[in-house]
Amino acid sequence: MKKGTIRQRARERHEKHALRWQRHLERQRDLNNKIKAAASDILKSPQFRSTRRHIQHGNVTVNNHCLNVAKYSLAISEKLHISCSREELIRGALLHDYFLYDWHAKEHVPVYKLHGFFHPGVALKNALEEYELTPRERDIIKKHMWPLTVVPPTCREAWIVTMADKWCSLLETFRIYRGHGALRYDREEESVSTTA
Ligand SMILES: [Fe+2]
Ligand SMILES: [Fe+2]
Repeated sequence: MKKGTIRQRARERHEKHALRWQRHLERQRDLNNKIKAAASDILKSPQFRSTRRHIQHGNVTVNNHCLNVAKYSLAISEKLHISCSREELIRGALLHDYFLYDWHAKEHVPVYKLHGFFHPGVALKNALEEYELTPRERDIIKKHMWPLTVVPPTCREAWIVTMADKWCSLLETFRIYRGHGALRYDREEESVSTTA
């Protein structure tokens, strides 16, 4: 094979790869912008930001996990053209794990405090103290651990988040998706004061 042909093929492969990567980044930017537009109050809340202190799965924080679930939920609903309230979908997904404690800590390990069964209720209680939630947003938070929570979701938004949550949890647990680890309390305080 001629040298020129090999180079040309390599260049074409490189260009295809660059184009795919560019499309992926544009898609991520678009999803992030939609999440910001629907829930800037949640994203800016110090309480929500505090979820960066706790690990959810692997080395992914609760904060990062909730953003992943919101992003996947939105992507699924758009890809499959599911007619639903995107705003409630995003807000419910961001708050679905709003339990605000470190579930790996010793005090949450005993059987009577089974995190998997009880955290949706804790998350809902915490979210209600801070936000006015719609029935759909409540359903998303309360039922996202189905079938553990026995009663199945009753709206499309909750079904989407339930599925996206399981998919993200799988990717994070097997470290296919990696995070940056939990933020130390003192470091977070520093970053908040410098960005304020
Ligand atoms: Fe959860
Ligand atoms: Fe979750």
